[in-house]
Amino acid sequence: MPHIVARDFKLFPTPAKAGECEFLWVAEPVKNASDYLVAVKCEGREFLLEIKPKDDAFVIKSDKITRVSPTYIVKEALRNFCELAHCDIVHDNLSIIKKTHIEKSKEFFKEIDFFINNFPKAKEVWIEVGFGSGRHLLYQAQNNPDIVFIGIEIHKPSIEQVLKQIAIKNLKNLYIIDYDARLFLEFVPSNIVGKIFVHFPVPWDKKPHRRVISQSFINEAKRVLKPGGVLELRTDSRLYFDYAMELFLEEPRVKLEVTKNIEPPISSKYEDRWVRLGKDIYDIRMEALEVSPPLKIDFDFSWQKLRLRDDIVQKFDTKPKVFDNFFVHFEKLYRIDDERYLLEVSFGSFDRPEHKYILLSKDSAQYFPKKPVASQANIQAHKKIEELLNG
Ligand SMILES: C[S@@+](CC[C@H](N)C(=O)[O-])C[C@H]1O[C@@H](n2cnc3c(N)ncnc32)[C@H](O)[C@@H]1O
Repeated sequence: MPHIVARDFKLFPTPAKAGECEFLWVAEPVKNASDYLVAVKCEGREFLLEIKPKDDAFVIKSDKITRVSPTYIVKEALRNFCELAHCDIVHDNLSIIKKTHIEKSKEFFKEIDFFINNFPKAKEVWIEVGFGSGRHLLYQAQNNPDIVFIGIEIHKPSIEQVLKQIAIKNLKNLYIIDYDARLFLEFVPSNIVGKIFVHFPVPWDKKPHRRVISQSFINEAKRVLKPGGVLELRTDSRLYFDYAMELFLEEPRVKLEVTKNIEPPISSKYEDRWVRLGKDIYDIRMEALEVSPPLKIDFDFSWQKLRLRDDIVQKFDTKPKVFDNFFVHFEKLYRIDDERYLLEVSFGSFDRPEHKYILLSKDSAQYFPKKPVASQANIQAHKKIEELLNG
């Protein structure tokens, strides 16, 4: 991850501009935190830089919760920050700039808001979850120009590799998103998807709740697939196969096809490795049989009454609060100025918690930089946050 180690730096008045970046405000640690946070807007993306004391220097890097990709945007922000803050740099890893190819394919790299507000509906959509090296995704996109592809991945170097390949191959029918696939389907319109590929998902034998395939994933997949559309799981793990098969069979009405050691149209990096080792490869294909009701996402995540109170520091309670299907955990508190505080909070479902910042001021309250996704657990937690902070 891009970072700078500086012996010293000077905070500057905000807002301030340098290069392509605008520095909006700086938040200092108040409770449970030791780092400073700097809000930055670079190439239209808002995120936070974190400044953490380490030994007798400071490590400056992107904050994890708001991290953006491609990483050249973070590098640009770090460089511009240090120009304004006159950093006394001991070390950095910013010199490798791989911008040109990524730059060209930037229009195909999308944030969740794009899919929530303008989901591409004109053509049939195929989705690949956890595309890794992207060999299968790129092959399919190249060979099916009339289909719109969406590749979902959380591993940033893989995303950057595939963005580069999109530019090199001049593909126009492939969107990439850096997002947790377990949540993404909740935002896909119903009956629009022809295929969902889940190839060699991480088995997570010790933490099964982190697996991509779950009952809720299968239900969402059924909803977004058009009748005849197929969810395809391919795995080398017999344990994962058995686990998934059990879930598929829980469905009240379903058409399943199971195959073993069938050669795919293109072999992925993982597949090559497992085949070399002589492992068996299992496929399960679930076909959607019915038309599903339309998707409704209509929760607005704003607060009418939540405001910064004078006793915020005294009342800031970092004990996690657990409710029936969700939790709220106020983790850290920062001060921007007398009128504005920043809270770090995790909340929502136990399996897929949200991590967010809330910017509290005397006359408003909002998530920074973006609202949570509208899952039921997040909606309940959002309402509870107002109650807890106002109480
Ligand atoms: C074992 S690799 C397989 C990659 C590729 N499908 C292949 O066959 O070569 C699993 C990939 O899934 C990604 N992944 C794991 N959990 C994910 C999630 N919740 N959402 C999106 N991608 C995920 C990982 O980053 C990794 O690249």
